[in-house]
Amino acid sequence: MKLLSVVGARPQFVKLAAVAHAAAQARVEHVIVHTGQHYDPMLSDVFFTELGIPAPDVHLGVGSGTHGVQTGAMLGALDAVLDEHRPDWVLVYGDTNSTLAAALSAVKLHLPIAHLEAGLRSFNRRMPEEHNRVLTDHAADLLLAPTRVAVDHLAGEGLASRTVLVGDVMTDVLRVVRESTSGRGSSLVDELGLEPGEFLVATIHRAENTDDPVRLQAVVDGLAACGRPVVLLAHPRVVAKAAEHSIRLDRGGLVVHPPLAYGDLLAAALASGGVVTDSGGLQKEAFLLRVPCTTVRTETEWVETIELGWNVLVPDPADLPAVVSRPAPQPTDATPYGDGHAAERVIAELVARS
Ligand code: UD1
Repeated sequence: MKLLSVVGARPQFVKLAAVAHAAAQARVEHVIVHTGQHYDPMLSDVFFTELGIPAPDVHLGVGSGTHGVQTGAMLGALDAVLDEHRPDWVLVYGDTNSTLAAALSAVKLHLPIAHLEAGLRSFNRRMPEEHNRVLTDHAADLLLAPTRVAVDHLAGEGLASRTVLVGDVMTDVLRVVRESTSGRGSSLVDELGLEPGEFLVATIHRAENTDDPVRLQAVVDGLAACGRPVVLLAHPRVVAKAAEHSIRLDRGGLVVHPPLAYGDLLAAALASGGVVTDSGGLQKEAFLLRVPCTTVRTETEWVETIELGWNVLVPDPADLPAVVSRPAPQPTDATPYGDGHAAERVIAELVARS
């Protein structure tokens, strides 16, 4: 079988790590196409190096732009690449503009498409990710769902016959990296002289929180008022938007730090007293590490983290100081994200259908 993966943004590289290893183990031919949506070394190269992902076979170098410009540039470039390789399966990941562009290109070339992380829904149609995932699910031939909730969403949209529950591939990667880095300590704690358990790790990057200056100011104010150090691992988008609107990031308890490599992020989260984020991946990672998470959004796709008590939604950032001080959640041994072997199942499902 010949598999072609299209990736472009940070969380997709983590998912690709699991799939690339499982494909290599099964001796599946695997072509990796990087769209270039993320290009900063700390958002891209560091994941390939650290997680042992083979270098991309093709790099489209598309870069940033408005949704239409970025998605259109990828679409234009992908046609020739997919046509040249003619894989048995095009595998697309998650919900970014790279996901949608690859799905559109493949469907028009009549190439079979599998969507990894299918069926997640926020039901918030103002989120770019929600359009990307709904459109991709409806274009794809095989829907690889991470959770039972995702399976139910797909069934509700008439897509049950194309759906398979495989589990969450980010969980596969987290388990392996956590094992290999256990006992290593946190480079962030050492670098900033932090007191373990007495600080928070924050990431904010979603358009809903960054693009409106009033909202961004409110998020920064909320983080700065948490009454303890909050290390903001700042995605370039939040840095750019804050600069554009003259919003100061390093005030109150807020400390700005560049994004971390994957193992360092897990170590920092484990050493922290909690995580504050709008990232989907980090909500889940915090849950898997059993670190309390506070999510600066009105809803989440990873509802299991809420139901099990380890994640709390904070639509109004003014509530952050109170919510991050809540009592510790009840311990749980629930495993809603699978057993750490999701990527092997992904490859087996693709091979069985090729
Ligand atoms: C994208 C995804 C989002 C995902 C996130 C993970 C879409 C619509 N959004 O958001 O779902 O959660 O990746 O991180 O696909 N920039 C840089 N360097 C880079 C990349 C981006 O400086 O390497 C800056 C640019 O100013 C750019 C902005 O960040 O305009 C936004 O980048 P973009 O790729 O459009 O979206 P993300 O916010 O990264």
